[in-house]
Amino acid sequence: MAEGTGTDKGKTILVTGGCGFIGSNFIHYMLARYPQYRIINLDILSYCGNLDNLCEVADRPTVTFVKGDIADRETVRRILGKGVDAIVNFAAESHVDRSIEDPNLFLRTNVLGTQVLLDEAREAAVSRFVQISTDEVYGSLGASGVFTEDTPLKPNSPYAASKAAADLMVRAYIETYGIDAVITRCSNNYGRYQFPEKLIPLMISNALEDRELPVYGDGLNVRDWIYVEDHCQAIDAILHRGVKGEIYNIGGASERTNLDVVKAILHTLGKPETLIRFVKDRLGHDRRYAMDFSKLKNELGWEPNVTFEQGIQQTIAWYVEHRPWWERIKSGEYLEYYERMYGNR
Ligand code: NAD
Ligand code: DAU
Repeated sequence: MAEGTGTDKGKTILVTGGCGFIGSNFIHYMLARYPQYRIINLDILSYCGNLDNLCEVADRPTVTFVKGDIADRETVRRILGKGVDAIVNFAAESHVDRSIEDPNLFLRTNVLGTQVLLDEAREAAVSRFVQISTDEVYGSLGASGVFTEDTPLKPNSPYAASKAAADLMVRAYIETYGIDAVITRCSNNYGRYQFPEKLIPLMISNALEDRELPVYGDGLNVRDWIYVEDHCQAIDAILHRGVKGEIYNIGGASERTNLDVVKAILHTLGKPETLIRFVKDRLGHDRRYAMDFSKLKNELGWEPNVTFEQGIQQTIAWYVEHRPWWERIKSGEYLEYYERMYGNR
């Protein structure tokens, strides 16, 4: 899908899961970068979908919010019937620990929801489908090595298995029906609007409240951290210039152990390391992820701009300055508000 120029009337993009962490950052990014585009945001407002993430842009005439389920065929059909050029599918159950507790919803949303979107995209002849996947589909690495796009899929958690299944469904729709789709697989994101159940915002907010910081196992698991805005830029490049049927790895070139991340947060906030509490390990806990994103760099010219040291400082500053945002989440107040506004979910 070629980029809209300043003179054309712009594209219409359906962003699913746009009230979540990466989806909301992507909407902010797209509105700033392509003011002539129209964005339709389809989000079910699950426990982590938060309209506060978009309050600054809610009044823009180019953004429409639809509260709904990607697995609800009628809703998806109605939206696509209005004329949509591309779908970027962020909507998912995204938290590994929750998938270990109960995998059911992960299969429904991540696999069946994606399949409904694919079906309806095919029916409506949508010109581009971007499936936002994850490095977790590749499984776990030892001390060395990296994931390439050719690494076999070996997911270890129910979450990762559901994302891998969705990727395979996207592949099948490309091969069988010839739909124009691409898959992105990104490493661990961090930045503003991340729900405080994930490592970085949980640790920042707990430290600010002088609560314990629960580190799983020995704390030496390694993740490759990418600043969310860099991820948004990569998706922009792939949405507009990615080649039909291709998979693109996205990474931050910033491998850190969990313990290093937690200590950096405590150090920046001037809090003592005695707040760290080693707790029982996550079941099936992947040891290390590392991404080879040279394909994206060589073919589409993308690479991350923000170092971990810069990004973590900006992120900590944001959580310090936006305390009411995460306090409303931690207290559950925002959910009560949606229930009053939208009824039972
Ligand atoms: P998130 O949990 O913050 O947001 C998910 C959003 O999807 C929420 O707004 C939620 O309300 C919405 N949603 C859930 N079920 C839905 C449904 N049935 N219909 C419509 N909307 C629904 O997740 P995130 O961290 O922003 O991740 C977004 C996507 O990126 C996911 O697909 C995830 O697998 C992928 N991803 C995340 C990371 C990361 O580090 N967070 C890294 C790589 C890939
Ligand atoms: O790699 C991409 C994936 O990154 C995305 O696909 C997922 O949607 C996203 O949730 C994330 O998965 P992780 O499991 O890596 O992220 P999480 O923030 O849950 O955990 C990061 C690491 O920190 C992991 O090794 C587990 C550890 N951890 C996490 C929490 C919440 C702790 O030690 N303590 C904690 O309290």
